[in-house]
Amino acid sequence: MKILGIETSCDETAAAIVDSDKNILSNIVLTQLKDHSVFGGVVPEIAARAHLDHMDKVVEAAMKDAGCDFADLDAIAATCGPGLIGGVMIGMMTAKAIAATHQLPFIAVNHLEAHALTPRLTDNAPFPYLLLLASGGHTQLLIVEDVGQYTLLGGTLDDALGECFDKSAKAMGLPFPGGPHLEKIAQSCTDHDAALARFPLPTPMKGRKNCDFSFSGLKTAARTHVQNLPEGALKEDDIAALAYSFETAVCNVLTDRCSRAIDAYKQRYPQLETASFVVAGGVAANTAIRNTLMSLAENHKISFRVPPVSLCSDNGAMIAWAGIENYARGKEDPLNIAARPRWPLEELHKTTAAS
Ligand code: KG4
Ligand code: ZN
Repeated sequence: MKILGIETSCDETAAAIVDSDKNILSNIVLTQLKDHSVFGGVVPEIAARAHLDHMDKVVEAAMKDAGCDFADLDAIAATCGPGLIGGVMIGMMTAKAIAATHQLPFIAVNHLEAHALTPRLTDNAPFPYLLLLASGGHTQLLIVEDVGQYTLLGGTLDDALGECFDKSAKAMGLPFPGGPHLEKIAQSCTDHDAALARFPLPTPMKGRKNCDFSFSGLKTAARTHVQNLPEGALKEDDIAALAYSFETAVCNVLTDRCSRAIDAYKQRYPQLETASFVVAGGVAANTAIRNTLMSLAENHKISFRVPPVSLCSDNGAMIAWAGIENYARGKEDPLNIAARPRWPLEELHKTTAAS
């Protein structure tokens, strides 16, 4: 089975063709970084216009790269939410038009589910697995029970982790998008102990008896450190030290929160031989976070899976794969389905966590 997947929920215009044997036949991602960087963040109206300008060429390139004709496809999948609604509508309407013209089934994909199922495309992750989903708009710990079945263990009470990275990086004078730039400058910090002593940061929610997160206090504390630096141009060494301390605080929080989630997952599935901890979403591209969570999984004797960096951030292959997983289970959507700016994963099929 071959499916074309289309993604336009944020600032990437993307299309890919994936088959049911987990081959990524093409994967075109056109990023709008330049369009938004002068504004220091994604501007929804500019994003929507850019998707409209490039959508047809991106789909064409994905078809060409895969050596496919529309007649070779079994279905078309597109992100229908959550995300910036103007962009979502452009990808969704393109997919619907192709589906209608070529009389192909249409599958409305939840963007978060696509991130959540990516480790099955890349690493054959068996159900049920524990997932940390950390992107620009979401931070959640979930048990992925099956396609469409998610048990929420905890989520952020305020900012998403990617948002915290981006806003803290902006305060540090780093370019957009902040996450990757913050990671890069943190890697140039040479005296780690001095950095932690000079720029102490809070680790919100650490020790709490749940699996929730809170990142706004960390963001504010990082910004306060920047404001307290000597007046004048920010020095690269200072920012490197602060960025290192910031990443360390994030890793400490994640270790604590994910450790609790692993306990909850093990309690729910005590005999599970295939127990695994999976990380997905744009923030999963961060090397310090990947290494920290890998050690955590090792300590808890549970296998660890994280998609390659190129499939952590938004792309069409994850949408095509989510389309395949859903279509294989008989899901097909009518062409009058609406785009959804908000579409929580737990609403796909509600289950509640054992306390
Ligand atoms: O999943 P994604 O590509 O888009 C959303 O669905 O939100 O995630 C984007 C987020 C941004 O906040 C970006 O700064 C963050 O992921 N990110 C990173 C890194 N690469 C991307 N954060 C920290 N370190 C990175 N290397
Ligand atoms: Zn995403």
